[in-house]
Amino acid sequence: MTETIEEKEGNESYMQVAIRIKPLDENKKACLQYITESNQIVINKEHNSGSSKRTFSFDYIFGPSTTQETIYNKLCPSLINNFLDGINITVFAYGQTGTGKTYTMGSETSSLNSKESVGIIPRVIQGVYNGIENKKTELNEMEYVVKIMFIEIYQEQLRDLLHPDTPSKDINIWENNNTITISGIQEEVVNNLDEILK
Ligand SMILES: Nc1ncnc2c1ncn2[C@@H]1O[C@H](COP(=O)(O)OP(=O)(O)OP(=O)(O)O)[C@@H](O)[C@H]1O
Ligand SMILES: [Mg+2]
Repeated sequence: MTETIEEKEGNESYMQVAIRIKPLDENKKACLQYITESNQIVINKEHNSGSSKRTFSFDYIFGPSTTQETIYNKLCPSLINNFLDGINITVFAYGQTGTGKTYTMGSETSSLNSKESVGIIPRVIQGVYNGIENKKTELNEMEYVVKIMFIEIYQEQLRDLLHPDTPSKDINIWENNNTITISGIQEEVVNNLDEILK
């Protein structure tokens, strides 16, 4: 997270990978160890002939007691700063079913019921609006308009989640010169977090 923006612009593969370990059942704990100091996980594998260990290193390892707030604070504020400086950013959750992608991203509506369980998406949105307010005080001639889209890709079909009646055949996605373009999704102008969560 120490690279400057100039370095990032010149390095298209700039990416960081964080592992979040969700609270595990007792029987699963034996196969996984993690070392947060060195950001490594160790997978223990049992064979007929004995056992072996494999170690993998990542940019961050978050143990099972890590809060939603810590995940956000470690991963997102620097991305939001880059975003407000005009750099495209992505936060991508990857993992097999039930591993906590929806929980971590905060698209589980029940996560909004308690302040602690609010996930990345609502926190990033609030962070963007806070950042805009700060920019406005620094540069008062600047005007900001926030527009959002919410898309689902499921079994190669795209859906406009803000306009679920839009038929999938009217939505297209293609890549040209490393730029992904999507047509047929409607954008909505939004002024604050509450408007988005509606
Ligand atoms: N870090 C965590 N702490 C507490 N509960 C968690 C954590 N991560 C996930 N869970 C719970 O585990 C369950 C499965 O998580 P979740 O629905 O986020 O998985 P998913 O990766 O989105 O799965 P799917 O691919 O099926 O959508 C949910 O009940 C969620 O609340
Ligand atoms: Mg999910």
